[in-house]
Amino acid sequence: MITVRTVADLRAALGRERAAGRPVALVPTMGALHDGHLTLARRAAQDRAGNEPRPLVVMSIFVNPIQFNDAGDLAAYPRDEAADAELAAGAGVDILFAPEPAEVYPPGFATGIALRGPLVETLEGEVRGPAHFAGVTTVVGKLLNMARPDRAYFGAKDAQQARVVMAMVRDLDIDTTIVLVPTVREADGLAMSSRNRRLDPAARVQAAALFRALTAAVDAAAAGERRTAVLLERTRDVLAAADITPEYVALVDPGSFAPVTDLVELDGRPGILALAATVGGVRLIDNVEVPSS
Ligand code: PAJ
Repeated sequence: MITVRTVADLRAALGRERAAGRPVALVPTMGALHDGHLTLARRAAQDRAGNEPRPLVVMSIFVNPIQFNDAGDLAAYPRDEAADAELAAGAGVDILFAPEPAEVYPPGFATGIALRGPLVETLEGEVRGPAHFAGVTTVVGKLLNMARPDRAYFGAKDAQQARVVMAMVRDLDIDTTIVLVPTVREADGLAMSSRNRRLDPAARVQAAALFRALTAAVDAAAAGERRTAVLLERTRDVLAAADITPEYVALVDPGSFAPVTDLVELDGRPGILALAATVGGVRLIDNVEVPSS
């Protein structure tokens, strides 16, 4: 594995391999790597279309300042590039792209990519404000232009983000296939997140209630419940028992992220049950698919 810090070096390294016919797979991250990120990288290294040669896996590590709506969250974001490099190499990453902020946003940088409409105005878009997803689409759009990957990998943990990225790629005719990878969880169900390392032991135990709360609604749906109000109540009850007040809990359409009032509206597609909550001072998000048939 090599580490590169400039777009020019990234392109030089990619050009050699692309000329040899290798497809390029990109895994964008903000570092502080855990098994969720590494699962994306392993998947990127394994995927083959037809009998194409082994893909070249690029992982970017860049704590993107323009997507943080809270300066304290940005300052507290964990960073450990040496540990990340070791983990990435073990997961099959060939090129680690770790640019400085000035490489991504040089003086005079003045262009952004932002979606309009409900997809970026609900849930995370509503709570974190319009700059959050605009920051994500701007940096992901840049990363896709820098690496020009055949495939790029995103986690279902951030379901709305993945959906926003897919919409951008479609709208801007970007020639990259977006691959969605299921959420990787700890043994007690807590979704892996770089932010989990900021949870103290008591908050870490409390945080496991997020997945239990989502699972309670999935169980109710599997038992035949169709009404969103009842499913949300199941979720909220489990959260309340763990002394957690959610920022939001919502059952939404997987395409539009518009709220649904009854699972029958989904015509058999799974709904997405998503929540956000601050536990022990750390903001966490999670979601699950809810079968609608
Ligand atoms: P980050 O939070 O580092 O996540 C990088 C990628 O890993 C995202 O696609 C995210 O959904 C995925 N991921 C995180 N935890 C996961 C888990 N437990 N299971 C499966 N996948 C998981 O998301 C970002 O960074 C940034 O917004 C980024 C896309 C890099 C743009 O700055």
